Amino acid sequence: MLAKRHQIVFAVGILGIAVLVACNKENSTVTPAPTPTPTPLPNDAVAAVLNLPATPFNYANQPLPGYLTSPNIIGQINTPGTNPVTDNGATLGRVLFYDKNLSLNNTISCASCHKQASGFSDPVVKSNGFNGGLTGRNSMSIINAAYYPNGRFFWDQRAATLEDQTLMPIQDLVEMGMTLPALETKLKALAYYPVLFQRAFGDSTITSNRISLALSQFVRSVISYKSRYDTARSALPNAPAPPPNAPYPNFTAQENRGKEVFLTPNLGGCAACHGSETFTAPQEKNNGLDAVTTDRGFGAVTNNVNRDGEFKVTTLRNVELTAPYMHDGRFATLEEVVEHYSSGVRNHPNLSPQLRLPNGLPRQANLSAADKAALVAFLKTLTDRTMATDVRFSNPFK
Ligand code: HEC
Ligand code: HEC
Repeated sequence: MLAKRHQIVFAVGILGIAVLVACNKENSTVTPAPTPTPTPLPNDAVAAVLNLPATPFNYANQPLPGYLTSPNIIGQINTPGTNPVTDNGATLGRVLFYDKNLSLNNTISCASCHKQASGFSDPVVKSNGFNGGLTGRNSMSIINAAYYPNGRFFWDQRAATLEDQTLMPIQDLVEMGMTLPALETKLKALAYYPVLFQRAFGDSTITSNRISLALSQFVRSVISYKSRYDTARSALPNAPAPPPNAPYPNFTAQENRGKEVFLTPNLGGCAACHGSETFTAPQEKNNGLDAVTTDRGFGAVTNNVNRDGEFKVTTLRNVELTAPYMHDGRFATLEEVVEHYSSGVRNHPNLSPQLRLPNGLPRQANLSAADKAALVAFLKTLTDRTMATDVRFSNPFK
């Protein structure tokens, strides 16, 4: 019985192969009759390549703790009224962020240089572009990009808005090497995009302006608020801010000391620039990396020597994961960063006043070995472990 079934199966198999061969032969010699292929349902086009939830993830209304919704923190947010974050907009942005089709030879996506596991930065000094070339500076984290009140982007702040910024790597000759018309044509040919643009913008028209809007929505949705620092801070009143030496119950003695060093002007004095609960400043600063300008930074952008050596004050949230540090990636570890502020601040003519003594000389924090270690321990309490695995910010491609 079994044997017979096998024979039948075998025979049907042979027949099938024979038919297939015949078909192939026919196809190769005769123009095939047009076979009506069923137009895939829009959802099929998306599901074929992407793992997206049926209902979009929540990007627009994340449950931020109370101390991050106070007026002075809300005032830091650089979202323009014309491009609020929506769940479908950020979903499209997420797909674009991870899509290698955004580069000329389909080898590089935004995420190639902004890796989720590395706090959305790149663990190398300079990143490789689509053709193997190197970027001019160290890759930056995109975490909490929404919180920078002057709204400018890049180390030297050459992008006036995030909406301007998001199209720049795509057209950068080292990074992704595309032109905007070529980008639009390319995305129009990918079956999943019309559906995603429709959901995000109400119709399926693909324009570079919409690409910029969606990418910006995704970037602004990457907000960190689940670190051990947040756990402690959430348990305390929103305002006024607790004093620098208020111990946090979930911190070790060393971490509490590090917090005090960070917040106290006469100790680390870090909060003078990396201030408030977002650990950033309202604007660019010169933190004394060099006595003589090596990279003009904001000075070149504004064509003003009085701004030379000024750079964006990046957030310190998740800084444990974003080594190497500074615009040129010169420091490999947080210990090296702390040593810079403790003993290595250089007297650049534009050194920011927060790092000067009343007599004008550079202010070295002169921390003890124990306080340096405590400061590093505190910086690590700002690590939000959920960011590295949060599926909302992960690669959606199958
Ligand atoms: C080849 C590597 C590379 C690729 C690809 C890349 N970036 Fe970047 N990104 C960088 C580097 C390097 C910087 C810092 C450059 C500078 O300041 O001069 C940066 C800076 C940024 C910033 C500025 C953050 C801030 O706080 O100012 C944002 C936002 C950003 N990138 C988003 C993106 C997006 C969106 C894409 C995809 C469209 C992308 N990047 C593609 C390397 C890359
Ligand atoms: C005068 C303002 C100022 C003060 C005070 C200050 N910083 Fe900074 N910080 C900056 C600026 C500006 C940068 C970016 C500089 C660059 O790359 O050229 C920076 C960068 C950093 C970075 C690297 C971030 C990254 O993503 O690469 C760390 C870490 C850091 N600071 C920690 C501290 C600590 C710890 C203190 C206190 C001991 C401190 N800062 C005090 C302005 C300041």
